[in-house]
Amino acid sequence: DIKGCIFDLDGVVVDTAKYHYLAWKKLGAELGFDFTEQDNERLKGVSRMRSLDILLEIGGLTISQEEKEAAATKKNEWYLEFIHQMQPDEILPGVLDFFNQLKENNIKIALGSASKNAVLILDILKIKDYFDVIVDGNSVSKAKPDPEVFTQGAEKMGLTAAECVVFEDAEAGVEAAKNGGMRCVGIGEQEVLSQADVVVSGFTEFNIENLKAL
Ligand code: G6P
Ligand code: MG
Repeated sequence: DIKGCIFDLDGVVVDTAKYHYLAWKKLGAELGFDFTEQDNERLKGVSRMRSLDILLEIGGLTISQEEKEAAATKKNEWYLEFIHQMQPDEILPGVLDFFNQLKENNIKIALGSASKNAVLILDILKIKDYFDVIVDGNSVSKAKPDPEVFTQGAEKMGLTAAECVVFEDAEAGVEAAKNGGMRCVGIGEQEVLSQADVVVSGFTEFNIENLKAL
């Protein structure tokens, strides 16, 4: 009964979550405060501007709208420097194998990411052709944990929520999937992603049989 899989991008398909973290950390340092990996969990799955607001809250800073725009642009420029140096081996282990298993089983593949850089990243890694549908930060108006990004993905595949499974590494993303009435596989740690139906450390631990058993 599973006819489509919807994948978050950062931290699920590619190892870009660490680059988002490094770029935010650099911005924090420039603004005069430390930003830890634990703080970073709050930013996963969250849009660029909302992430900046959370970062500023953590640092106890208030800046003008103009300064915010400049800070977000700066962060993105640093992030893009990392992205342009990415190599195909930064596609997370087991992902392409799993995509191929889905293709063999006629299960559709969608992207459901909050990132405005999503298509660029898929292009750099030459994996765009795997996706039947792409929903990213340019096509949604409501951020995770709102289910819009996944609901749009299901609709564009021509499927109901019950026919889709979401793969997420962010707490806000797991919540979004559940809010949309979809099953969700958490990629990461059980403590962070406890709302997911199952949590695995990555796709070396998850195959088509596991999917069918959900
Ligand atoms: C994903 C990441 C977030 C990131 C957001 C926006 O959801 O998990 O860390 O802030 O996308 O990404 P962007 O590339 O548009 O800045
Ligand atoms: Mg993510």
